[in-house]
Amino acid sequence: MRPHHLAALAVLPFLVPAVLSAQNAEPRRLDSPFRPPVNFVEQITPPPIPPDVTDDRRVARNYPEQPPVIPHNVRDYQITLNNNQCLTCHSRRFTEAVQAPMVSITHYVDRDGQTLGAVAPRRYFCMQCHVPQTTAQPIVPNTFTDLDTLVSRPSDRGDRR
Ligand code: HEC
Ligand code: HEC
Repeated sequence: MRPHHLAALAVLPFLVPAVLSAQNAEPRRLDSPFRPPVNFVEQITPPPIPPDVTDDRRVARNYPEQPPVIPHNVRDYQITLNNNQCLTCHSRRFTEAVQAPMVSITHYVDRDGQTLGAVAPRRYFCMQCHVPQTTAQPIVPNTFTDLDTLVSRPSDRGDRR
């Protein structure tokens, strides 16, 4: 190693603390869309939790395999070993009386591909897959485009040829 290389190494221990203290001078601001632009150490009042959308209007699915989102209130609907309150409306037996859409046939198929007489255990806890929506505005913009829109865009079709 040449002498001036060694000299450069000797400066290192003095440089590192200098950089660190420059960082600590001001409390760090987190530049994140997930939190308000306040200093990390500041306490602020959290915004109120937005209410669920409960307008009873079924929402279009973004793709056929998507579990449809829940358009109604689900507060206090219980799911226990002996009782599944979602199924008191959505099972085949009760759909006529309450006019709820029936769970589809996939909900009767167990993991071995056997179609059972009742909802399969792996589809018992509905809200593992089905979720309500809230009135909150998305904090990150969503640029998802569904397939129907993609294939019907004339400019795209021109590009592909
Ligand atoms: C009192 C009857 C009732 C109960 C209990 C109920 N639902 Fe519903 N559900 C409905 C009806 C009726 C609709 C049709 C839209 C509407 O009127 O809200 C619906 C719609 C839905 C949809 C939308 C279906 C689609 O194709 O868009 C989902 C998903 C759903 N419910 C899931 C659930 C889950 C999960 C639970 C339990 C936490 C539940 N529901 C409990 C009556 C009920
Ligand atoms: C493991 C995920 C999962 C669970 C758990 C689940 N679902 Fe679904 N559900 C789906 C998916 C995916 C679809 C859409 C494709 C399909 O029908 O399989 C769907 C579709 C539906 C539909 C619309 C059916 C139609 O023909 O339009 C209803 C209603 C529904 N589910 C209700 C329920 C209820 C009630 C429960 C609880 C007993 C439940 N689901 C549990 C994934 C799930």
